[in-house]
Amino acid sequence: ANAPVNVTVTGAAGNIGYALLFRIASGALLGPDQRINLRLLEIPQAVKAAEGTAMELFDSAFPALGTVDIFDDPVQAFEGANIAFLVGSMPRKAGMERADLLSANGGIFGPQGEALNAGAADDVKVLVVGNPANTNALIAASHAPDIPASRFTAMTRLDHNRALAQLAARAGCHVSEIDKVTVWGNHSTTQYPDLTHATVNGAPIPEILADRTWVEEDFIPTVAKRGAAIIAARGASSAASAASAAIDHVRDWCQGTTSSWTSSSIMSDGSYGVAEGIISSFPCTAVDGEWKIVEGLEIDDFSRAKIDASAAELLDERAAVAEMGLI
Ligand code: NAD
Ligand code: LMR
Repeated sequence: ANAPVNVTVTGAAGNIGYALLFRIASGALLGPDQRINLRLLEIPQAVKAAEGTAMELFDSAFPALGTVDIFDDPVQAFEGANIAFLVGSMPRKAGMERADLLSANGGIFGPQGEALNAGAADDVKVLVVGNPANTNALIAASHAPDIPASRFTAMTRLDHNRALAQLAARAGCHVSEIDKVTVWGNHSTTQYPDLTHATVNGAPIPEILADRTWVEEDFIPTVAKRGAAIIAARGASSAASAASAAIDHVRDWCQGTTSSWTSSSIMSDGSYGVAEGIISSFPCTAVDGEWKIVEGLEIDDFSRAKIDASAAELLDERAAVAEMGLI
């Protein structure tokens, strides 16, 4: 058998944590035969609740689950981590934008970046879920000089999955029949879910793309504002779908993508004219444990403007956290 994989989850007692931990332990992340040791990080006030979740993990008798350890110190929690889910942070409430969380949450990610730098395994892969996810990932990366920046990613897979679901409903097909959808930019309302290259059962979708009213006034805003719609409906931000997308992201990163590409927020290398040094969503494949941007896609004028606008927002967020001394 392979050596156990150490998976650290922050915010383990929160809503996403509650959904995520059971998916990880059930084998959905790395397969049923890969033993996983969980390392849970919480703030001191929530350690007791995390202990309750750990009791339920124990009671589930998952074949793939090894040890479960609980910490309130990031240095200990990230010791030996092969995979780190950075979930712990405050969610927004109705009426807030995710960027409104920068000052509340930004301060969490510098110390966690330092702790990862100090003790994580050499192959560590980091997914930031806590909002504003892209800029929080940038903060963490900037505090971890010894870890390649390519290991710090942010979650736009939920936006990607939302885009698949909306297109499937419009096209009257199953989500599994859709390929080549991209979410570009920031996990915010400026994100650009892009159907330009999308296929259904391998065929392009010219009739759907010709319906500009649907694409521009229905599809794009529905996907981009879905987080707020969920908050309005549930009274709390998305949790199980977020956990599911987090599993999808890290599973594909570790095991390889199975569609032509997916959407992942990674450190920009300047591809597609997106400024270097921001963590932005791109069409990506994962091969041998590394995300790679799918190059050479044609970008029309509408897409260009949307991609540029979201990248500009990420540059503004970077400037704001620089101003706050967080990077
Ligand atoms: P929640 O409030 O239910 O849980 C958050 C947990 O994090 C709490 O238990 C809290 O004690 C813990 N926490 C706070 N600071 C911490 C720290 N410094 N270290 C460790 N733990 C800490 O929130 P939730 O619904 O689980 O959401 C968590 C985050 O995920 C929010 O920021 C939310 O906006 C974000 N989110 C992102 C996406 C995405 O697509 N990227 C989707 C959904 C939610
Ligand atoms: C989401 O997209 O559901 C999350 O980012 C939560 C939020 O604040 O929208």
